[in-house]
Amino acid sequence: MATALVSSIVLSVFLASIATVSARTAPESAPSGPLSLTGILDKNGQYTYFLRFLADTQVGSQIQNELNTTTEGFTVFAPTDKAFNNLKPGLFNGLDSQMKVQLVLFHVLPKYYTLDGLQFVSNPVRTQATTQDGTVYVLNFTGQNNQVNVSSGVTVTPVNNALYQKKPLAVYEVDKVLLPVGFPGANSPLAAPAPAPKISPGPAPAAAEKSESSGTEMGLGLVLGIALACVGFLS
Ligand SMILES: *[C@@H]1O[C@H](CO)[C@@H](O)[C@H](O)[C@H]1NC(C)=O
Ligand SMILES: *[C@@H]1O[C@H](CO)[C@@H](O)[C@H](O)[C@H]1NC(C)=O
Ligand SMILES: *[C@@H]1O[C@H](CO)[C@@H](O)[C@H](O)[C@H]1NC(C)=O
Repeated sequence: MATALVSSIVLSVFLASIATVSARTAPESAPSGPLSLTGILDKNGQYTYFLRFLADTQVGSQIQNELNTTTEGFTVFAPTDKAFNNLKPGLFNGLDSQMKVQLVLFHVLPKYYTLDGLQFVSNPVRTQATTQDGTVYVLNFTGQNNQVNVSSGVTVTPVNNALYQKKPLAVYEVDKVLLPVGFPGANSPLAAPAPAPKISPGPAPAAAEKSESSGTEMGLGLVLGIALACVGFLS
């Protein structure tokens, strides 16, 4: 019980800190001008967690800078806020800042792919994430009739609508956060016979219905909601 309380406090402190960072870096969105990754995600209103991660880890600005000069382009898989809400409570407690960077980079391919391209790509596909010893984290794609699934080895989920798809940048929505094999909080992949990890029917975070609003206030509301849900769930 005490541990549960501590871990939910740690989680909420972590989430509050990324909310603060994004609040500080927020006023830089001019979607009408040049191509902007955050502008694309901002516009749709359901990627507030992912935007905060991009800001907190500075991966967002790295990609933004490279968009000007890249010849290969980038493909980004953007998990929805719902995807983050469905993660195991406490998942982030075990991540140091380096691991958070890796987790974000795992959602980025250093090449522009159309959905068609992903459907017929040869597996495995390298992501921007690498381990300390230089191993590249990879994703697999399976496609059929214009339907594409992405598999991390732990997470399998459809690649949904394109939020943006024009070289050099493709941004696709995903309904799950992609967790690499062996990541803390990621179940061992092949131990379970059913590949699709079912979301446990625990209490839904109280703020989940309010996903239409945006900004820091909502972020802090979510933090509170998740913290309360954690306390309720774990005690
Ligand atoms: C990136 O491209 C934009 C628009 O084309 C341009 O205004 C900006 O100066 C470029 N930045 C760099 C670092 O090349
Ligand atoms: C994608 O995954 C779903 C469920 O895991 C499965 O039913 C579907 O056949 C898969 N589609 C492709 C194209 O692999
Ligand atoms: C990807 O597919 C290859 C075979 O094409 C397989 O060996 C590998 O385990 C798969 N990796 C993941 C992460 O699904």
